Amino acid sequence: MREKRAVAGLIIAVILLALILGGCGGSRHLTAPTAAARFVGRATCAGCHSGIDADFSLQAHGLDFLTVHGDQIYGRGGGCAPCHTVGYDEPSGFDPGGSTPHLESIGCEECHGAGGDHASNPSSSNINRVPIAEETCWDCHVSSYKQVRGPVPTITDASLYEKAPGSITIHHPQTIFLLGEYGYEHLSDPGPHALVNNTCVSCHLNPVESATTLGLRNAGHANHGDGALHPDLTTCARCHDSEQQAKSLFEGFEEEMEEQLIELGGEDPSNPGAPDADCGGGLLNSYATTHNIDLDNNSDPDNQYVKNYKGARHNYEYLLHDGSYGTHNPPFAEALLEEARELLSD
Ligand code: HEC
Ligand code: HEC
Ligand code: HEC
Ligand code: HEC
Ligand code: HEC
Ligand code: HEC
Repeated sequence: MREKRAVAGLIIAVILLALILGGCGGSRHLTAPTAAARFVGRATCAGCHSGIDADFSLQAHGLDFLTVHGDQIYGRGGGCAPCHTVGYDEPSGFDPGGSTPHLESIGCEECHGAGGDHASNPSSSNINRVPIAEETCWDCHVSSYKQVRGPVPTITDASLYEKAPGSITIHHPQTIFLLGEYGYEHLSDPGPHALVNNTCVSCHLNPVESATTLGLRNAGHANHGDGALHPDLTTCARCHDSEQQAKSLFEGFEEEMEEQLIELGGEDPSNPGAPDADCGGGLLNSYATTHNIDLDNNSDPDNQYVKNYKGARHNYEYLLHDGSYGTHNPPFAEALLEEARELLSD
């Protein structure tokens, strides 16, 4: 493993730098839209920002959820609506009753705030230019909507008790991963990347120096387009010496994480070289076989081997579904894997 202690000096220097960056970046937040502003929907924004709207259709957030999963915005108790619509649970926001078709799917106002005032009287003072991560990204990129507005629940034997061992999974947990919460069990390790100024936004949407840099530095990608969501190495280079250094660090680390995931869960049969989301191989699979664990039914929840399997599988799924191969929180990622291996060695 890495010699973390030896880089204590670098860590301190880098944290100072992060605070400095945080200082100047923070002043760029503009006035929030007034409380009276109403949600008007993406089509209204497109009336004046048509180029951005066209680009936005190319990025994950701009996809039309309704044509693919529309029934699930209103159906099944509307369980998908909180994170796949505009202004859920806010005044004038998405109405599960069906009266707001213009707010189906994620739109501009999820990041820029309710834009009614701005749309009728365009000005830079009545719209949020730079999204605030804690009030936008953090609400959806968690295992349940607005999970981190309250204390994050911990994962223990009790919280996994009711689940069949093979059904344990955890969707889009990026925020709690970054904060180093929700590992099995009671691991808590807020990582260095939680210090990035306006974390999430600064790495993924690159709002540096000039406001219109969004996505532009990803060659071939337009503003708000597909490339806009993917981190740029110049972001990493702010803290990691140089782009070259950041690239090798990222690639080396990502590779190591991928290898360790495959060792635990096996290789995806339909995508060789990638870890298997079904855990059909690796240490998890052999542990289940050796100890006769019933993956499909929760038939023996008090068995210690079953508990070990569930804990290890939780940590595996957590790292896998975060989607950053540990980059969001490198020390936490390593701790999760170590804990999983330890559980499976009993
Ligand atoms: C009637 C035309 C019009 C509509 C509708 C409109 N905008 Fe704008 N928008 C503008 C103009 C003009 C500016 C530039 C204002 C300025 O610089 O003073 C602007 C600027 C912006 C900015 C940048 C603000 C800044 O600080 O530089 C954002 C973000 C924005 N609009 C988002 C939206 C969103 C989201 C919607 C839909 C809710 C929307 N706009 C609807 C005309 C419009
Ligand atoms: C707590 C917020 C939240 C809820 C609730 C939610 N989603 Fe999502 N969904 C997300 C996020 C965030 C992503 C992006 C995931 C990523 O890239 O890690 C996503 C991605 C998706 C995707 C596209 C990418 C993929 O991984 O397949 C589909 C399809 C999807 N969700 C369907 C649903 C359905 C159907 C429901 C309701 C049963 C639902 N979601 C409920 C937040 C949510
Ligand atoms: C309203 C909920 C919501 C908010 C707010 C939100 N996201 Fe997402 N995000 C999603 C969903 C849903 C998807 C998946 C969309 C799809 O694939 O259909 C997604 C996808 C993504 C992806 C994956 C892109 C890919 O290519 O797979 C990234 C990265 C991302 N979001 C980052 C962010 C950042 C950064 C913010 C804050 C500025 C943010 N999101 C705000 C719900 C949200
Ligand atoms: C230190 C920079 C950094 C920060 C801060 C950061 N991310 Fe990431 N994120 C990355 C990198 C690097 C990847 C891996 C990208 C890749 O391999 O395509 C990633 C991957 C992702 C993915 C999966 C994308 C995909 O293509 O499947 C999502 C979703 C995501 N991040 C959302 C977030 C959210 C939400 C936050 C804030 C809670 C956040 N990130 C904070 C750097 C960062
Ligand atoms: C995932 C979050 C997100 C969503 C959704 C989003 N934007 Fe943005 N937008 C940003 C970020 C980040 C910036 C750059 C802020 C900066 O660096 O100053 C930005 C900048 C802007 C600007 C000012 C800069 C420019 O490029 O002219 C306008 C106008 C704008 N957005 C309009 C829109 C419209 C219209 C939509 C919907 C079609 C939309 N945005 C959807 C995150 C988002
Ligand atoms: C705000 C500063 C900051 C930014 C921006 C940043 N990092 Fe980091 N990163 C740190 C700190 C601090 C550490 C912990 C010190 C260390 O281990 O080198 C760290 C650690 C890491 C590690 C683990 C290194 C190890 O030896 O365990 C990786 C991998 C990493 N960062 C990748 C990235 C990538 C990729 C990006 C860009 C997407 C990025 N970082 C952006 C501050 C930052």
